[in-house]
Amino acid sequence: MRLDWGRRYLMCPPEHFGVLYEINPWMHREVPVDLDRARDEWERLRATVESAGAHVEVLDPRPGLPDLVFTANAGLVEGDRFVPSRFRHPQRQPEVAHDAAWFSSHGFVITPLPEDVHHEGAGDALPFGGVLLSGYRFRSDAASHTVLSKLLGLPVRSLELVDPRLYHLDLTFCPLDDRRAIVAPSGWDAYGRQVVEALVPEPLVLDDDEALSFCANSVVVGTTVIMPVCPARVGRLLEGWGFEVVESPVDEFLKAGGGCRCLTLALDVRLA
Ligand code: ARG
Repeated sequence: MRLDWGRRYLMCPPEHFGVLYEINPWMHREVPVDLDRARDEWERLRATVESAGAHVEVLDPRPGLPDLVFTANAGLVEGDRFVPSRFRHPQRQPEVAHDAAWFSSHGFVITPLPEDVHHEGAGDALPFGGVLLSGYRFRSDAASHTVLSKLLGLPVRSLELVDPRLYHLDLTFCPLDDRRAIVAPSGWDAYGRQVVEALVPEPLVLDDDEALSFCANSVVVGTTVIMPVCPARVGRLLEGWGFEVVESPVDEFLKAGGGCRCLTLALDVRLA
């Protein structure tokens, strides 16, 4: 059975995007971002998501918030509730007010986390098999998972991330349908690997190079899987399962450590 979410997304245009600070190993302030290219890549991603059959809502960009484009980190959507992120790094914390304002003006009930835990939204939490799978260590705290579970009344499974280059869950895990997911176990500790093994009946297991090409950071719309570049082996496996892969290059955004999925936030997730 196909995913029952992923038909409505929030995206934020890269008007004020740039690499202005370094909070993950991909970011280097001295590497310039080409804003025209970034705009083209973003427009193309948006068009690709739409032609796959999803609706895209747009969040206004804000000067001084270069990473606002990565809407996956705005927070967590669960039905009509929105849990705004509590960012680890002070550089991203001012995004929260802006995100929360959008969600409250679009009919969502804002359900805040306590101030003393970090959690970076859908970047570190994805639904699969009736639970919310959530990563921790580099950005989100392990403690946030218990809090989230209570707050939303949902089962949350925790996964420890171990590779600083794969610092968010959505760089290592991508739900494809109710049985399958793209997984990058090199990003998890031994216990985390067991958690996913028990949860995902048919994993598409990436090797290191494949994982580092950010192909787990895909946007899945029905049977369409949208990723920056598709390694040949991964493409064959996905096609064998009946998926169509569409490449949508996001090189400018990779300079900030974000791929296709990071640039989107699914607005139609409902687990409870
Ligand atoms: N520069 C951003 C950061 O380090 C990239 C965020 C990527 N988002 C994601 N969902 N993986 O926070």
